[in-house]
Amino acid sequence: MERAWVWVVGVVVLLAAAAQAKPPNIIVFLADDLGIGDVGCYGNTTINTPNIDKLAAEGVKLTHHLAAAPFCTPSRAAMLTGRYAARYGLVGQEHRMPVILHLASLASLPVHEVTLASALQAANYTTSIIGKWHLGMHCGWLGRSCPGPLSHGFESFFGIPVTLFQEFRGSHPFWKFPLDETKFQGLLMTWVVTMLSLLVAVKKKTVRMSLVVAGALLTNLLLALVWFVFAHYSKNSECVCKVSPWLHQRLNSMVMRDDKVVEAPMELDGFSQRLAQESRQFIASHANDDRPFFLFHSFAHVHTPMFSAPQRAGVSKHGRYGDNVEELDESMGVVLQALKEYGLEDNTLIYFTSDQGGHLEAVDSDGQRIGGHNGRFKGGKAQGGSEGAIRVPGIFKWPGHLPKGVTLDTPTSLMDLLPTVLSLAGLPSLSKIVPEAAQTELDGEDISELLVTGKGRKGPRFFIHHCSQAINALRLVTGSHVYKMYLAKHKWHPGSTQCGWGYNTACKCYGEFVDDMSHQPELWDLNTDPYEDGKPIDPHTVEYKEAVGKMQEYLKQWRGRVVYPPSQLSTVSKIMWRPWLQPY
Ligand SMILES: *[C@@H]1O[C@H](CO)[C@@H](O)[C@H](O)[C@H]1NC(C)=O
Ligand SMILES: *[C@@H]1O[C@H](CO)[C@@H](O)[C@H](O)[C@H]1NC(C)=O
Repeated sequence: MERAWVWVVGVVVLLAAAAQAKPPNIIVFLADDLGIGDVGCYGNTTINTPNIDKLAAEGVKLTHHLAAAPFCTPSRAAMLTGRYAARYGLVGQEHRMPVILHLASLASLPVHEVTLASALQAANYTTSIIGKWHLGMHCGWLGRSCPGPLSHGFESFFGIPVTLFQEFRGSHPFWKFPLDETKFQGLLMTWVVTMLSLLVAVKKKTVRMSLVVAGALLTNLLLALVWFVFAHYSKNSECVCKVSPWLHQRLNSMVMRDDKVVEAPMELDGFSQRLAQESRQFIASHANDDRPFFLFHSFAHVHTPMFSAPQRAGVSKHGRYGDNVEELDESMGVVLQALKEYGLEDNTLIYFTSDQGGHLEAVDSDGQRIGGHNGRFKGGKAQGGSEGAIRVPGIFKWPGHLPKGVTLDTPTSLMDLLPTVLSLAGLPSLSKIVPEAAQTELDGEDISELLVTGKGRKGPRFFIHHCSQAINALRLVTGSHVYKMYLAKHKWHPGSTQCGWGYNTACKCYGEFVDDMSHQPELWDLNTDPYEDGKPIDPHTVEYKEAVGKMQEYLKQWRGRVVYPPSQLSTVSKIMWRPWLQPY
């Protein structure tokens, strides 16, 4: 009798295992510029984010989750590859643009970098990215075939190839002739003088009429070209590639499907809903496949400019920005509802995060704030080592496999995604799935055990907080301390943790914007002073000497071992707009 029971139990276990043989579907939701203080379940009492809150209630909420960079491009690249973006040069350099600016430029995530998508594709997943890419695309000659996401493991792509820019909103003038600027005055003078001399020449009959007409045409053509460059192209401190709002909209405001442009300039209002519908459709069409799917839903929200569907405008208590946060949450709800409808909830692993902290300085043309809120953490987007720049929401959910309603304060990183997903899904390690990656060193760690049991691995863990290629801060997690050491710290405007106002304004993380502390780093213990409200640890204490000593040693070894290639974003030829790469 007893033996029979053993058999029955055995068979049930085997059947359960067989049912489990198909790895889970995976959905990654990535918000853009969303602050940790913008979300209900992270302590915001006046915003409405029921879908994110529900995800946290049904899964594991991480309260010490860190972005690998304070800007979109490097943070996204690091999340997808599990590696700091400085390792493959997808970071800026002092006084240069920190992100990819033009679709038609050469900077990009190198094709030899292995992403979560390429790993999952190799493990027979159907893969798709819906939303924002911003990691570069190499279009072919005359803009044919632009295989950005498609060369990084995604079978399909629908969304925006670069990012949103404030200039995408509204319409901008093409004709510009500001005569208060000397260059335009010079242009006008040249034109007048040439035309007059041509007139004199024809009157004095020194040249033939046909030559005069040709000369006039040529002059006008040349001067029109110069005018265009003056009116639509300029140089600023960060970039020799600044284009006018009109040209920006022509060059970068577009929606693509795979490698084809399907809409340009893009229609902003209602775009969040369109992305959600795309994701719904993707889920619907793969719900009954034998292969599992990986969907990367990369929100365009809540980056500037603000936009919403008409019925969503003016709904929140926090102006246009609040409307955008709530619309993001609603769109996530639409995608999650599709999972439920197709009965896929139990076999889908979900992750939600933001690429970096809220942009504190962002204001709209009418003075309304349109940037995020980082709770009590100081600083925001763009600030290398400031906590508000990199502390972001992070939630994992997989019913029956991960605990429900658990909050963990162990420090983790967005870069942990790749190894953690492979491990949770029961797939072989990266080097087994993608043999080319055998020599690839990951900076992210497999945190599946932490998520499942609440207990992480023993031993210290170090995090590097980059400002482009420079290192602004280091974090050391030991048993009972989370030390943070600043090598450079921001000089905020008095009474704030930001640098003024403006959608293009942010505290830069170099030069005169920071205090260099490398001679005597500032040290904090975030376990006892999480918001850095008090005083840093006294440099004369044993604790200071020990902690700073360990981090300095780690840094020394790191610098000796890891060689950063030149920054792709500081090479003018790589970030410049190249007309022949522009897709139609
Ligand atoms: C909630 O988020 C909004 C939008 O960012 C912000 O203005 C507000 O201060 C936040 N409220 C709290 C209590 O954190
Ligand atoms: C993917 O599918 C192929 C063919 O069905 C199979 O040979 C291979 O082992 C699968 N790979 C993984 C990682 O499951």
